[in-house]
This record gives sequence, C-alpha cells and structure tokens, in this order.
Amino acid sequence: MREELQCRSVKDGCSPQGQCGCCTVWVDGAPRVSCVTPVRRVAGRSVTTVEGLSDELRARWAVAFADHGASQCGFCTPGILLRLAALEAGDRPVSRAAIESSLRAHLCRCTGWQSIVEAAAAVLGLAGSPAPLTTGRDPLLASWRAQIEGPMFQSSGPDVVLGGGGFADDTSPGDALVELGAPTGARGDVGTPPAPDMRAAKEGSGRVQGRNSTVPLAHPVALPPGEWALTLQTTWVEPAYVEPDASWCLPGRPPASPLANGGAFGGKRHSPVPARARALADETGVAVRVLWSREDVVRRGPKRPPLSLGLRPDGTGILRIGRTPGPADLRVLEDRVRRVAPGVEIESADIVGPPVGDDLRGAGWAEVLAALHVLHSPASTPGTGTAEVSLPGAGRARVTLALAGPGDRGTVSVEVWAGEVLDPVTLRSYVLGAVHQALGLVWSEGIAIDDRGVPVDLTIRSFGILAARDMPEVSVRIHPEDRWPVNGSDAVFVATMAAAWIAEGRPPRWPTRRTGGRAPVSDVPASAGREEPA
Ligand code: FES
Ligand code: FES
Repeated sequence: MREELQCRSVKDGCSPQGQCGCCTVWVDGAPRVSCVTPVRRVAGRSVTTVEGLSDELRARWAVAFADHGASQCGFCTPGILLRLAALEAGDRPVSRAAIESSLRAHLCRCTGWQSIVEAAAAVLGLAGSPAPLTTGRDPLLASWRAQIEGPMFQSSGPDVVLGGGGFADDTSPGDALVELGAPTGARGDVGTPPAPDMRAAKEGSGRVQGRNSTVPLAHPVALPPGEWALTLQTTWVEPAYVEPDASWCLPGRPPASPLANGGAFGGKRHSPVPARARALADETGVAVRVLWSREDVVRRGPKRPPLSLGLRPDGTGILRIGRTPGPADLRVLEDRVRRVAPGVEIESADIVGPPVGDDLRGAGWAEVLAALHVLHSPASTPGTGTAEVSLPGAGRARVTLALAGPGDRGTVSVEVWAGEVLDPVTLRSYVLGAVHQALGLVWSEGIAIDDRGVPVDLTIRSFGILAARDMPEVSVRIHPEDRWPVNGSDAVFVATMAAAWIAEGRPPRWPTRRTGGRAPVSDVPASAGREEPA
C-alpha cells in the first residue's frame, strides 16, 4: 500500500508485528491489519483506505474526531477511523463496550482513548454521548495550545485525522533509496549502501514478527540506605511513540524532521535518523529515506530511566538515577529535579541496559514531585487518592481517583488551571492523554530487560500501555484564567501519578499492577483482522 501504490494514509507503526493497528484497511468492508495480510489473501477482493470512503462518511468521521480532540499527532488515526467506521456498517448493536473492544486492535499513545470513544459514540448515535466542547475550532489557537502542551508544533484538523499529518516518511520521494534499521556503528563502519526500494530493504533487514517474553520487570537501581518515610523504585519504561523514527534527505539539503506533527514525549529529540539520512544522501548523490522499524525503536530508542528514591518525613532524601552508556546527559534531568525538589540529593547509578532518555516527558522530576505530594498527603480511604500539584512557571491541577473495588475501572476527576485556555478541545485532549500515561506509569508500564541489558519485549503491545477498556472514566474541568497560557497537562501528569499511587496504598515499586512478565492488556483479538501470518 505505502510503497507500490504510494498510499500513505496507511501508516506503518510496527510492521511486521501486526499490533498497533495503524495500517488498518477494509477488505471487502471488514477491517484488516494490512501489515500481516498477505497480498494473495486479498486477490480479487476490494481493499479500501480512508481515501475510498464516501465523501459524506469520510467527512462525518473526520470532523467528529477533530471536534472531540480525538486526534493529536494523527499517526494512529486513519486506522482507528476505519476500524470504527466499520461498526456503522456492521449488523451488531453498537455500544460503548463494542467501541472499546474494537479499539483493542489499536494503539494510540497521545489521546488517552476517551475522546476517541466519545467521537465514535457521537457519530454512531449512542444515547447520552457527550457533545464536543466547541465546534468550528480556530486551528491557530488549537496549534498554539498544542505547542504549549506538546511542546512541539501540531495541527489536528480533519486533514490530519485522515492521515495528512506530514510525517517524514509520508513525504519522502517515491524513488528514494531506503535504509531500514539502525546501523550498529559509526557511518564509516557500516559499509552497507541503502537499498533501491523498501522491498529490497525489508528483505535485507532480517526482521521477524515480534515476540514477547515472560521475563519479569526489573528494578535495577538499589534503594539508598536510610530510614525512609517513603520509598519508590521504578523500571525501564518505553516511551512508545507510535510513529517510528524516520527521515529523508536530498543531497546537500536539510533532512526531514522525524517530529512532523508531535513531540514523541521527547523520545526523538536526539534521534540519529536525520543525520544519517543527510550523510547517506550526500554520499550517494540521490534522495535517501532512513527509517527504523518498531524493533529498532525498542532496541535503540531512549527509555525512561529506572530510579530509586528515599524520602524522609521532612521531604529531604536521596534520588538515584539509573545511567547506561549512551548520549543522554543526565545533568539536564538532575537540574530539573533540583528545581522541584531542592532538598533531594541526586546520585547516578551505573546499570546495564538500553539507552536512557534525559528529557522524556517529566523523567525523574515528575516521579520525585509525585512522591513529595504522596509523602505529605493525609491517609485516604482505600481505593481513593487526591493530589493537587502546581508547577513553577506552568499550570496547576487537582486530580481525584476513585476505585469502587478490585477490577473496577474507577473514575478520575481532573481540574486544571493553565492560563488563557485558547482551545478547550486541545487542552482537554492533552489532559486526557496525561491521565492515561500517568496511570500507565503507576499501574502497568515497563519493558523487560535481560541480564545482558538487552530489551526482550520487542512488540508494541508488551509495554503495558493501558487499553481503552482499562481506562477509568475521566471528567475534566478547565478553569479559565486571566493570564498568559501555560502548560497544564504536566501538572495533570504529576497529580495523576500521585493520586493513583495513594489509591494503590503507596506500594514501593511501580508498576504496581504488573505481575510476571506479561502486560495486563490483551493481545490483539482474532477479530482484529490477523487473517494469516505473513
Ligand atoms: S503497522 Fe500493521 S499493525 Fe502496526
Ligand atoms: S493521536 Fe494517536 S498516537 Fe498520536
């Protein structure tokens, strides 16, 4: 689809793993994950992408997604749209549960699912589905708010919903040479020229369908010795941005940015792919595409560093940050921690493992700040937690989490103050995404690393990312303020971590709900469209 037909609304987030859903198309009207559907299975059948939907249907779904803030970077969205639009044509009754079940075949890292469910409920006419906060949004104000929250340029109108986010690999010339994967040494050590096209690049890459392990999560940074009132140990966490690192370049020209329509939570800030594309283009004298497979991203991309923390009753303590060989400059991370927790000493601990990221979303400082709030919060009813966080130079958030009992999805209520609102749909969407990611960090996310420090869970579905049906119902109240707009979702991120940790009873290790090596979220169901392994 992407190579021979140049149909780039069909995204590749994980092929050949068949686990992210970004490549979903219709085959004879039924959603299918195209990266694991052999061409021979569709011979004589009809394949439909978003371009092939009727104008009316395409516009209705795209506008609903945009109006509800159900798309941020937009990389996952065309596949999700096709999956959900198929519900409309099906003969089964449509319900919220059916929508959430359909979403099991997909991964969205930005939106936290709820706005997607709401957009689908609105299009499908579910009783009680919420109306969008506003319609006819000003795209400039929406982008401004996204830039404050991201923090990176982002547009999120109907064109982005339909796959037009301008992602680096989508804009590459069709005749560019292709390098697929991450070379293991300096450019001069590699010696393998780029392939003439994607087919040849894939044949030469030796990639296999992804696999999960049963290796348990490790907490590799030992607690500092001391009499602590509160302790925390965390593990490696995969940022799991859905668009893999990609770039392309013409000789002598600047390379395409791998950050076309979103910030990847800081995970691509030091991505080597643009420099690699530039070097190869200059060397070969023609356009070159460089892209990483999902497996490359997992093996090479930065992880949230594992840490350990001990806090005394007065809020002083020691933070140990896991350090692995790599380009990360942990002094940046340490400076950020000092700004929010001046009474906490910082040590680094050399550990064996994949590269860690110094500027992944809130890495280090968010955990410490959440822990300080938990330390100072009064005892609460089991299953409930409340935290209020105010960030210097940014916004304020109050988050309350309530679980009725074991297995209950619970509810989260969020209040947020972020200066002038600019665009409530965008701010709400980022708040929902922050709640999702924070709950994942406390409850379920982590990546298994073997004794040699190598990631062994290489599939995108093995990182413990919460599915739509695992998420609590989140209510968001935005308090407009008469001041310059500031970031609000980071305060929500920290407050949600703290509230969730309190509700869990403050256990000393995150993730709190992960037992053994398996993520709590389900594998792709058979109905997701895995007709036959490639
Ligand atoms: S690219 Fe096909 S499921 Fe991820
Ligand atoms: S909007 Fe879903 S991954 Fe970005």
